[in-house]
Amino acid sequence: MTTVLSDRDRRKRDDRPDETFYKEPRFVTHADDAFIARLTALYDELLDPGDRVLDAMGSWVSHLPPTPFERVVGHGLNEAELAANDRLDEFVVRDLNADRTLPFDDGAFDAVCCALSVQYLEYPGPVFAEFARVLAPGGVVVVSFSNRLFPTKAVYAWRAASMEERADLVERYLSAGGLPVADRIAERPGTDPFYAVVGRKPASDERQ
Ligand SMILES: C[S@@+](CC[C@H](N)C(=O)[O-])C[C@H]1O[C@@H](n2cnc3c(N)ncnc32)[C@H](O)[C@@H]1O
Repeated sequence: MTTVLSDRDRRKRDDRPDETFYKEPRFVTHADDAFIARLTALYDELLDPGDRVLDAMGSWVSHLPPTPFERVVGHGLNEAELAANDRLDEFVVRDLNADRTLPFDDGAFDAVCCALSVQYLEYPGPVFAEFARVLAPGGVVVVSFSNRLFPTKAVYAWRAASMEERADLVERYLSAGGLPVADRIAERPGTDPFYAVVGRKPASDERQ
């Protein structure tokens, strides 16, 4: 397993367990409307009807298009937020900095979405390897981010990086998980910059 972040890189100003910080629900959005519309359009482009979707590090909104997916599973840290998310068929609460595994079978999903949250991962290598494991061959991971963050909870490597360096970091996270980078997008649809890095698990007949 490739180590992507050093101990210094993964430092947080608030090093209490994450469940402390996320104990109270926040029914807010973490980017402007133009960012969210762009993200929904990207999901619409990449996801197909009937897909099984994991909204990793999620909240009360998934930003998904109205496509009829087979199953949308949420994951996050705050139960009340996830329970209020009417796009989810089911959800799990798990701190990925404390337990870097996901309680799903191999190949259980066609898409893993991780919106506005990747900056909080202290161990992205093992977590992205889990994303790869739970994806079916040919499945996508869509990691989106902007310039907003909870500064006390984002890792040092993210806080110290420019937006382009953050996209480089996400590319390294994908590579560490064994997921080739399929696309990288940097736009400014509104006030908040829109960045997305897309990884795709090779189809079973492709070599990595
Ligand atoms: C800024 S919110 C973004 C939520 C949602 N994806 C969205 O687009 O609105 C950050 C989310 O990261 C998740 N998160 C932060 N630290 C986490 C951790 N250690 N383990 C699992 N999820 C975490 C929480 O669920 C939190 O809701």
